Amino acid sequence: MEYEIYRDTWVEVNLDAIEYNVKMMKQHIGNEVKIIAVVKANAYGHGAFQVANAALDAGATMLAVAFLDEAIALRNNGITAPIMVLGATSAQYVHIASAHNITLTIFSLEWLIEAKGYLKGEAVNVHVKLDTGMSRLGVRDEHDLVKIFDYVDDNSAFKITGIYTHFATADEKDLTYFHEQYNKFQYLINKIPQKNLLIHCGNSATGLRFPDKLYNAVRLGISMYGLSPSPEIKDELPYSLKEAFSLQTKLVHVKKITKGTKVSYGATYEAEEDEWLGTIPIGYADGWLRSLRDVAVLVNGERAPLVGRICMDQCMVKLPRKYQVGERVTFIGKQGDEYIPVDEVAKHLNTINYEVTCMISTRVPRVFVKNGTVFGVDNPLL
Ligand SMILES: Cc1ncc(COP(=O)(O)O)c(C=O)c1O
Repeated sequence: MEYEIYRDTWVEVNLDAIEYNVKMMKQHIGNEVKIIAVVKANAYGHGAFQVANAALDAGATMLAVAFLDEAIALRNNGITAPIMVLGATSAQYVHIASAHNITLTIFSLEWLIEAKGYLKGEAVNVHVKLDTGMSRLGVRDEHDLVKIFDYVDDNSAFKITGIYTHFATADEKDLTYFHEQYNKFQYLINKIPQKNLLIHCGNSATGLRFPDKLYNAVRLGISMYGLSPSPEIKDELPYSLKEAFSLQTKLVHVKKITKGTKVSYGATYEAEEDEWLGTIPIGYADGWLRSLRDVAVLVNGERAPLVGRICMDQCMVKLPRKYQVGERVTFIGKQGDEYIPVDEVAKHLNTINYEVTCMISTRVPRVFVKNGTVFGVDNPLL
């Protein structure tokens, strides 16, 4: 099959790894606990539609996104599985959610009263969000919670199908605050009728570390992509994760430069000797930030340093020897015995792995691989 992709830079997404990571979590938490695959932010940069399908194939029963537009995009691509929105949605768009059968997150009585005015007979499913310590979104007080349930009891426009919270420190060594939040969640949900509700408090870290504290669903994000929720808990993961994301490109120009030749904007790099220099078509507009200039990339299974400033669309690599134009260059992922994990790039940027896969922009096409062959391509430019 011919795919429309003409760039020499792409993200390769291993859908087998996604399926493996979902199946391992399923095994770990047991069949009683449902998996909500978190595919917001274009599946953490991996490609929402393909990841959603892979996760559903592997046993996830629901999808979660950050806002309504992301949910509708999945519906427009033919996804029929239940989808929930984790963020806040303006009450005026409630009928849009209803029309697409999308579950919204709610956390105030005022929102319900306002939203009722926008529903003309149709109903909408909602999950109630509890703020147990994250201080982001959620009902904080038991009286407010009971009022919401009482209001919905009297209003067929809304159906509460779930209740949940989100932990701030489930991926940390010190679990004091995690337990405080967990206890608060337990206290609050005991104030309402729990029958037929999807009750979920856990993200990946909770699922991995506390499979007995999940109630009846887990919201699986980062570990579905094969990444550890934090470096701190990497050594206590109950099973090994398979990283799904790799960033690939090719040499588009190769030349020998003489000692003293300067490279890129600002002429900040000067060849210390006669050197082979490769030009690579990836730059900061693709998410490979200027601050990533001092990292190594992989060429023929060997680490080679980037040199000079990263440009908007291109950068340069110092090659250990002459290579042909077209030689594969790996920025993230494996080549031979060498490996640049997402975590290594995160460390360079002093950030978390979540940010690294999200920051590789949509102008870099995603190529999906399943059973060793290309299964699909997502190139939003074309
Ligand atoms: C509300 C909510 N639930 C679940 C997740 C998934 O968390 P993780 O990626 O750590 O599994 C996120 C991610 O940010 C989130 O915001």
